[in-house]
Amino acid sequence: MDIDEWAAATAARFLDGLPRRWSHTCGVARAADEIAHLFEPADKPVLRAAAYLHDIGYSTDLVASGFHPLDGAAWLQRAGYPRLAGLVAHHSGARHEARLRGLAAELDAYLEERSELSDALAYCDLTTGPDGQPMTCLERLAEIDDCYGAEHLVSRAVHAAAPELGEAVARIQLKLVASPPVEFAPANSPEGTALSHD
Ligand SMILES: [Fe+2]
Repeated sequence: MDIDEWAAATAARFLDGLPRRWSHTCGVARAADEIAHLFEPADKPVLRAAAYLHDIGYSTDLVASGFHPLDGAAWLQRAGYPRLAGLVAHHSGARHEARLRGLAAELDAYLEERSELSDALAYCDLTTGPDGQPMTCLERLAEIDDCYGAEHLVSRAVHAAAPELGEAVARIQLKLVASPPVEFAPANSPEGTALSHD
């Protein structure tokens, strides 16, 4: 079984009973599919796997610290997937919330990959709403504020992380401008017309 297929099955198992979280996860995986053409063949399944696995730490089977990036990463590390563990541990600016929770040292046990792939995981997570619907990064950050309240630890962490998250999302958006997905080419554009005859 390919790693992304394994990840999808694993996430479905862990998030069974958390339907909203599963809807969000499937939306993040769809977003990963939409930008997969930006990546080398070897990285595409890794991005897709990370998209499926990024929130498994919410599973009641995996809760230990109560901080989902850390709990998901701990399981992935034990399962023998250190790169995925690092991506999940540090996804979407988790470092900021870890600091507020007093868990920075625990998170630092996992390698923080700073790459186009980690940017892409943040892009997919932050442009997908809680029910899996596409939304802008700004809408997503505002939704978190609304959901938790501005003074909540999660909201404070997101505010602290917002500049770097915005930069990560912008880097992927720039790559998409340069290399749009084929299906995004308007049908009546010269490019779209040419593509439709391919
Ligand atoms: Fe997420």
